[in-house]
Amino acid sequence: MKAPKPLVEIVSTGRWLPERVLTNAELERMVDTSDAWITERTGIKERRIAPPEIGAAEMGAQAAKIAMCRAGIHAGEIDVIVVATATPDRLLPATACDLQALLGATNAAAFDVSAACTGFIYALTVAEGLLAAGRGEIALVISTEKMSGIVDWTDRATCVLFGDGAGAAVVRKSTNNRGILSSFIRSDGTLAELLWRPAGGVKVPVDYAVLDEKAHLIKMAGREVFKAAVRSMAEAADQALLRAGLTGEDIDLLIPHQANMRIIEATARYANIPMEKVYVNVERYGNMSSATIAVALDEAIEEGRLKPGSKVLMVAFGAGFTWGSLVLRW
Ligand code: UT7
Repeated sequence: MKAPKPLVEIVSTGRWLPERVLTNAELERMVDTSDAWITERTGIKERRIAPPEIGAAEMGAQAAKIAMCRAGIHAGEIDVIVVATATPDRLLPATACDLQALLGATNAAAFDVSAACTGFIYALTVAEGLLAAGRGEIALVISTEKMSGIVDWTDRATCVLFGDGAGAAVVRKSTNNRGILSSFIRSDGTLAELLWRPAGGVKVPVDYAVLDEKAHLIKMAGREVFKAAVRSMAEAADQALLRAGLTGEDIDLLIPHQANMRIIEATARYANIPMEKVYVNVERYGNMSSATIAVALDEAIEEGRLKPGSKVLMVAFGAGFTWGSLVLRW
């Protein structure tokens, strides 16, 4: 199959990570856990925690400013801002609108995409569609997650897993055959209750009972989610490769969602991509939901892991369930 011609490319990226590092040793003093358990089951050694006064919009704006500076664009040139977040600053209006105000991007349409850990793939796919359809020239795609704000810090099954961070990408119509070769997005709402925040919306508003039960915080059936993640990320890898007319052997760098080292290894094994071609930072940041791939992409570029023409496969899975993938020619 002939490789598709990319319509839209990522011009530049940026990231913002809080300075505060929360180690496994500190978590040992907070809940009944151990560095050995966390390391063996997840690969995570530490994660970052944003200060109370910093929200998702501010985190995302920091990452966006770096990406914009690297692209050499100013705020007024941005046509679309797509923010992927599972941790909006508030339910109304969208975090993207707060972020737009922080950037002064007065000519942009701004909205949020709610696809949990698959959010960066979803947001890139939405931006690609809008630009390809001629609805603008430049889009800003941002994943920003303050997971520390929705974690139950007394629940050892979840609080050891998550961290805060943001990543951003400036996206525009492709000019030179680099860019998005394929993408795949999918969801299954019948499994929502395996990974969710049961309360806090209009159906179950926050009241004293909700607060007592901590039903406004994240709940996860870890083992079931693990199995679904391995299965769905394999399907996603297959689909993006198929649509790009490639196989795992053609891929120069796999950037998987960073939730668990065992899921990352299973995805790489399935896609036939050796671990030296897989970007891993889960040990440093834990699961930053949609921001994991955005931050990893920015780090990979900075470390010189992408050369002109490199083919990158991104694969994610998250609450919803949602899953998806994307192949990029750098
Ligand atoms: O990003 C969105 C997608 N999310 C994911 O992909 C996460 C997917 N799930 C996972 O990564 C894994 O399922 C976990 C890391 C969450 C858990 O690992 P597991 O190997 O599936 O463990 P488990 O949930 O089956 O629990 C095994 C044992 C249990 O004890 P018993 O019942 O065997 O006595 C848990 O109570 O480990 C216990 N446990 C812990 N022990 C020490 C659970 N959490 C902890 C903990 N420290 N933090």
